[in-house]
Amino acid sequence: MSKILVTGGLGYIGSHTVVELINAGYEPVIVDDLSNSSPKILDQITKITGHKPVFYQIDLSDDNEVKNLATAEPDITGIIHFAAFKAVGESVELPLKYYRNNIYSLINLLNAYYGKPLNFVFSSSCTVYGQPDVLPVTEKAPTKKAESPYGNTKQIAEEILTDLVASGSSYKVVALRYFNPVGAHSSALIGELPIGVPQNLVPFITQTAIGKREKITVFGDDYDTPDGSCIRDYIHVVDLGKAHVAALKLMEKNNFAGYDVFNIGTGVGNSVLEIIAAFERETGVKLNYQIGPRRSGDIVKVWGDVSKSADQLQWKAERGIGTMMVSAWEWEKYISNNPL
Ligand code: NAD
Ligand code: WQD
Repeated sequence: MSKILVTGGLGYIGSHTVVELINAGYEPVIVDDLSNSSPKILDQITKITGHKPVFYQIDLSDDNEVKNLATAEPDITGIIHFAAFKAVGESVELPLKYYRNNIYSLINLLNAYYGKPLNFVFSSSCTVYGQPDVLPVTEKAPTKKAESPYGNTKQIAEEILTDLVASGSSYKVVALRYFNPVGAHSSALIGELPIGVPQNLVPFITQTAIGKREKITVFGDDYDTPDGSCIRDYIHVVDLGKAHVAALKLMEKNNFAGYDVFNIGTGVGNSVLEIIAAFERETGVKLNYQIGPRRSGDIVKVWGDVSKSADQLQWKAERGIGTMMVSAWEWEKYISNNPL
């Protein structure tokens, strides 16, 4: 069984990917410093899969801790690197916190396993495209100057990985540019765990529906879109988890060139108002919402061209907006009754 190191493996996307790795016959080894997750997620993964992965509580931005990890786990065949800070607004306030964690952690990890033939999957983001000139956006679109230090860490990381592969290193690398991950596992045992007030749309919707928030504000309805609200490509987190398995499988093929990048979305855009309507329709719960001012820094509209992922990664999103909304709602109800 191939051992795969999953950094940030107790986080939102990491935990769902660990489940998909186990389902696909891999042996995930989880590393997380619990800075944005709960140790109880390990029990939840065990409940879902019947398998308890090995877990190291390690801060990857600490070089020594990562070296010790590489000594303790020398025989891994791949790394899926999720561990990072991700709050866009906070990164504008505290840029060094973001550069330090997101860039040091990546470099420490690459250094610790340098020279080993490893398949490396990196969590990138559609944020590297900024507001694309052409939609749907393809992987060939130019990246735009990052809107935030967080977004810049994704661009810098992609460049570090490109340069590393170009240098002839033993790493193979796939960078996955996620669009907007939402939803939760069908068991409702794992899902997104926002700390404090959620910044993202779907957790804000579910927290409003359950009564943790009084109302949700739609950030602007006067954009150049059919209903005036912003458009995104929402992708179910389970489909996203499966994309990581597909990325490992691709790199395991002998003919894989050293570096590639893929859009991971559905290829379909939905507006904020469409998402609110879908949530109400699918769950039968009415949302208290109001139209408010635009949020500074928001992209107006973005959705991905996912044909390269379909052709080369042989991966396609299977879950639609309905499943995304229902699973997010089931998770919200679970977590409200069973705080982790
Ligand atoms: P998350 O915060 O739920 O998960 C990240 C995990 O990494 C957390 O469990 C956290 O405790 C851990 N971590 C952070 N710094 C660490 C460190 N120094 N050492 C060890 N563990 C550390 O976030 P997520 O939504 O699951 O995102 C995972 C990855 O995907 C991140 O790299 C993020 O930037 C990227 N991404 C997320 C989104 C999104 O909207 N959620 C979109 C695009 C890309
Ligand atoms: C979605 C839409 C908001 C909350 C962010 C990061 C991006 C990526 C994904 C990591 C927007 C609107 C939201 C609310 C609203 N992360 N909204 N009311 O901004 O697309 O992307 O997460 O890489 O880098 O920037 O996601 O969920 O915050 O917003 O109207 O209370 O919902 O304006 O149009 P976003 P989001």
